[in-house]
Order: sequence, then C-alpha cells, then structure tokens
Amino acid sequence: MTKAIFILGTDTDVGKTVISAGLMYQFLQKGHNACYFKPISSGAIEKEGELFSYDLSFVKKVSGLDEEDDRINPFRYKTAVSPHLAARMEKKKVDIPAIVETYKQLKAQYDVLIVEGCGGLAVPLTEEGYMQYELIKELDISCFLVTKTTLGTINHSYLTCKMAEQLGIKIEGLIFNNYRGSFLENDNIKTVSKITQLPVLAVIPAIEALQVENLEAGNLKEVFTQFNFMKIQEIEDPRDSTGRIEI
Ligand SMILES: Nc1ncnc2c1ncn2[C@@H]1O[C@H](COP(=O)(O)OP(=O)(O)OP(=O)(O)O)[C@@H](O)[C@H]1O
Ligand SMILES: [Mg+2]
Repeated sequence: MTKAIFILGTDTDVGKTVISAGLMYQFLQKGHNACYFKPISSGAIEKEGELFSYDLSFVKKVSGLDEEDDRINPFRYKTAVSPHLAARMEKKKVDIPAIVETYKQLKAQYDVLIVEGCGGLAVPLTEEGYMQYELIKELDISCFLVTKTTLGTINHSYLTCKMAEQLGIKIEGLIFNNYRGSFLENDNIKTVSKITQLPVLAVIPAIEALQVENLEAGNLKEVFTQFNFMKIQEIEDPRDSTGRIEI
C-alpha cells in the first residue's frame, strides 16, 4: 500500500519544502518509487511564458524526481498570497475534485507520496472558503507537522495539534526545522512534544547556504542522510498517572 504523508506547517515559511525535498531525496536514494505532490503554490515566477514554482523546482533538483510539473503542481499562481486570493486575482479557480483525482492517481502509481500543503491548517484554498483541513480530511491522509524551534512555536504547534485532533486529522509527529542549538530551542522542542504528546521525528539544523528561492541546497542531502524517517521514534508517554503533563 502507498504510504502517503501530508507535510503540514504551523505557518507559511516554516520549511515544508525543505523537509519535503529532504524526505524525497531519502526515499529515492533508498530505492523507493516516491513522488512529490504540491497541489497549489503561489509566489511562482514567470519565465518564457511559463509559471515556475520554487517549491517544485527545489524538490526536483534536490531529489532528482522526474515527473511532469503540471501533473504534480497543477495550480500555480504568481502572487504570493493565500490561494483563495491568488485564484481571485489571477482568475484561475482551484479545482478541488481535480486535486483529489490526481492524488488518487499518484497514490495508485507510487509507493510513497509526499504532499506539501500551503501554510497551516486553516488556509482557505478556494474563493468559496474550502479550507486546507477539509482537503486533508478528503484525502484521508495523515500529517507530519513542520514547525519552528524559536519563540512562538509552543503556541502555534499546540493550536495546530489541538485543531487537528478536534477535526479527526492524525498528526504522526513533529519535525522541528531551522534549529540553532540554543537553550530556548531545546526547551521549546521538549515542551511542544510534551504538551502535544507527539513524537519528535526529526530536528533539522539551520543549513548554511540553503535557499529554496535560489535552488541552493547547501548540505541538505547530507543532513537528511543522518535521519531515518522510515523509523518513527517513539517517545515516552509524557502523561503521569493522573493524566497531567509535567513540564
Ligand atoms: N533548515 C533550514 N536552514 C536554512 N534555511 C532554511 C531551512 N529551512 C528553511 N529555510 C529557508 O526558509 C525559507 C522557507 O523555507 P521553505 O520554502 O521550505 O518553507 P515553506 O514552509 O515550504 O514555505 P511556503 O509556505 O511558502 O511553501 C526558505 O528561504 C528556505 O531556504
Ligand atoms: Mg513550500
């Protein structure tokens, strides 16, 4: 059965593309028949009359994935705004049934499917207000939550996990990105894992020279080689016998 995973962020710019690229690289290196799917991207640039998405190009460059851009990134917008607004401004509707259909086809074709979302859970994907969490539910897919290590991450991570839980969306674990090793970050990672009761799947360091926008990967591939994403680390259940969480 295909393992499909939705790369969800607590926000935009948290590193979903970087993590997707690293995961894709790992899976393809290990010989899996893996594919990346980014249904909607905004902030694309125009080159020779074609819209070019940084996310897709970066993932392809790092991992070596060979698939048609229009198939794995069907809705591409120039304006770097929420999809519902980009669709209105650029007069190109997001077609959710088409996304669901492509997802099903990719899932049937590949062994591993990495789906990158747009920003966080509560992002409107269409002008009619169809939300990203509705798409996750419709795809019936579980998520890895990519989050920051810095100040604010406790609140953003907790709220995302609580909302997911209430919606019946499964978050398999946390990926902390852009880690620089400070005392605050160490405590944030520990605290988020405890209060969300989710395992930490990986802590990805800040990588020098990495820039998605310039298709510069730095030593991203080496960093990901050190992590075994196929083996999800279990952490101890942080609740005590009374059900409380001790921080
Ligand atoms: N571990 C890292 N080390 C250094 N730079 C990073 C790291 N992770 C992400 N970045 C940088 O942060 C920016 C945002 O990363 P990325 O594009 O992966 O975020 P995103 O969550 O996919 O954003 P979007 O919501 O636009 O899709 C990029 O400029 C990227 O180069
Ligand atoms: Mg991205």
